[in-house]
Amino acid sequence: MEATKLVLSGKNPETFKGDLLVYCLEQPTKGKVKADHPLINNWLKAHGKLGEFSGKTGETLVLYPDKNQDEGFKVKRLMFLGIGKSDKKLGTSELRERCRIAGGHVAAQAMRVKADKIMVCLPELDGIKAGDVAETIVEGVILGDYRFLKYKKEDKDEPSYNGLNELRLYSNDPTITVRKNMMSGLRSAQAACKARDMANEPGNGWTPASFAAVGRDLAEQYGLQCTVLERADMEHLGMGGLLAVNQGSVEPPKMVILEYNPPKKTQTLLLVGKGLTFDSGGVSIKPSAGMEDMKYDMCGGAAVLAMMQAVGEEQPDVGVIAIVPATDNMPSGAALKPGDIITHYNGITSEVVNTDAEGRLILADAMAYGIKKFKPDCVVDLATLTGAVIVGLGHHYTGLLGNNDELVKRLLRAGKRCGEPLWRLPLGSQYSKQIESKVADIKNTGGPGAGTITAAAYLEKFVGDTPWAHLDIAGTAWNYTEKSYVPQGPSGVGVRTLIEFIRRWRKTGI
Ligand code: BES
Ligand code: MN
Ligand code: ZN
Repeated sequence: MEATKLVLSGKNPETFKGDLLVYCLEQPTKGKVKADHPLINNWLKAHGKLGEFSGKTGETLVLYPDKNQDEGFKVKRLMFLGIGKSDKKLGTSELRERCRIAGGHVAAQAMRVKADKIMVCLPELDGIKAGDVAETIVEGVILGDYRFLKYKKEDKDEPSYNGLNELRLYSNDPTITVRKNMMSGLRSAQAACKARDMANEPGNGWTPASFAAVGRDLAEQYGLQCTVLERADMEHLGMGGLLAVNQGSVEPPKMVILEYNPPKKTQTLLLVGKGLTFDSGGVSIKPSAGMEDMKYDMCGGAAVLAMMQAVGEEQPDVGVIAIVPATDNMPSGAALKPGDIITHYNGITSEVVNTDAEGRLILADAMAYGIKKFKPDCVVDLATLTGAVIVGLGHHYTGLLGNNDELVKRLLRAGKRCGEPLWRLPLGSQYSKQIESKVADIKNTGGPGAGTITAAAYLEKFVGDTPWAHLDIAGTAWNYTEKSYVPQGPSGVGVRTLIEFIRRWRKTGI
């Protein structure tokens, strides 16, 4: 799919000659739906009488204007899209999400009619700035327009749709701010789609070497610095966790490090993403039903690398380092065994009780190494780490744990603004006690209770005093809450939240 061209226009929408022109309309609390356009109001009156359009979320009405008329619309199709009841109680984040959802519905309709060029008139809503509307509608359209068809043969009867070529936004006040916000929305959405592309690749199409290739590509494109640690480097450095998980595999492990160092750097953020390209469980093998979904166990790694695309484009004045420890987790005669004791990068020894609790083993090395080498002001890791987070939060919230209230607060806020909500869970010595081992410093499972917290308690051992937050995206990286702009497969969760977090990073530090 080609990248969509984005235009902000203040030109009368009646003159737009494309395939689809969209008006987003609120459902009024009383009376009939209204628009601030006389011709549209006439149409709405006529159809309103038939009870066909009330403005409910996702409701659409498509009309075909007569192009030969001297007056009126030149577009092929005119669409009214319901965006739900106006409500004074809604905050900015809820209204932003409403616009994103509207954008997703626009994309679905554009796909249905195989539209090439479309225009969306930005609705004027109380309680949200025009820039926020532009940003989030663009996000919704681009995220909703996403498909992954690489491995699908072309269907002769049904010609394929190449996606939107041009998206025009109409605003009656097309300021520079609105334009800037619109472009921010585009960059965030494109980065999330990049993460989805990586995640959609199956285990045989996406290996640790694929992560290394993406890192090198991004480095070349945006002048970042990419280093890939190979097995020999890991042996030399003593990264016993990543090496242990990789033991049963024929694919060599990689640790991909991508650095963005701005000229006048103030602070450094370290982002670590779990890049487990397929998780069979290893010798503690998983049940076969649903195991195919474990190709998505690299979504954290995909998110942090994809996010670096936006960093490269936006060149913020804070340094950003992304690290992806990458391997698959396979059983074999050479594989890691339950009971084995390993030594992590920082010297901590760990008893591997269950080889399926592998994510924490590879993250531990990556975080300890990243903190020692880059001395970051804070660390955020993203990982599809525990099934337990799905038991607790379902597929609607990402689990958030951390040792610093300010960092946690900023991430909660960023997630909320992006429609990717996070929910904080506690840490504490009671939980750390669950991972005490009789034979090593710690063990890699903490018993049946609080699986998400004991996994985070394991990671906590590797961050020292550095402010740190952990996002457990096992419930949200795929099968995410059904939304118009989120496809059924991988969601790209975390990418937009991290971009927002970096955009809002204040120089004051944590
Ligand atoms: N990748 C899985 C976690 C997971 C499970 C993600 C289901 C998405 C859906 C992780 O490596 C894992 O297997 N965790 C174990 C830990 C347990 C053995 C302590 C789990 O959650 O069952
Ligand atoms: Mn596992
Ligand atoms: Zn895993």
